Amino acid sequence: MANVTEGYTFRTMQADDYDQAIDLWNGLDGLGLSEADSPERIARFLQRNEGLSFVCEHDGSIIGTILAGHDSRRGFLYHLGVATAHRGQGIAPRLVDKALSALLREGIDKCHLFVMEHNAGGQRFWSANGWEKRDGILLYSRGLELGSNA
Ligand SMILES: CC(C)(COP(=O)(O)OP(=O)(O)OC[C@H]1O[C@@H](n2cnc3c(N)ncnc32)[C@H](O)[C@@H]1OP(=O)(O)O)[C@@H](O)C(=O)NCCC(=O)NCCS
Repeated sequence: MANVTEGYTFRTMQADDYDQAIDLWNGLDGLGLSEADSPERIARFLQRNEGLSFVCEHDGSIIGTILAGHDSRRGFLYHLGVATAHRGQGIAPRLVDKALSALLREGIDKCHLFVMEHNAGGQRFWSANGWEKRDGILLYSRGLELGSNA
């Protein structure tokens, strides 16, 4: 695996990193963004999963992110992304390692993630880094509304 060159700092993500993170995410093709990515929801996610999400900084700017959380049974990764100019140096694997180590410290020993079907690069990244693409599982989703789900 490529070594991360000097000048990059990895640290846990904080709520006030949001503006830089959303700018990065908006510029990445492979990520699926939704209303769950509002500043309030991301702040809530970080609070609920304190210390599990990370950013990578270069010259004081965020150039890489990973969100990690768990439901006490399994871990989940979201929004792994590295700015184009900083790719190919092993930054994404470092972010993944940090998130998985943090999950393991919480007692989580298995982690899942979602990849958009059209994101061929993302799929190749996960396969090249030891992740198994699961067959036989379909994802079902439903929006919830107060009052109609009692
Ligand atoms: C996927 C992504 C995070 C990789 O970031 P990165 O820091 O440049 O990762 P690296 O290139 O250093 O990857 C590390 C390893 O994965 C491999 N890899 C990375 N992208 C790959 C690809 N598209 N196909 C095959 N292998 C890939 C590299 O070859 C490298 O292995 P090596 O060190 O043994 O050569 C980055 O391309 C990105 O932000 N993509 C857009 C967002 C996205 O799709 N995120 C994933 C969402 S599911």
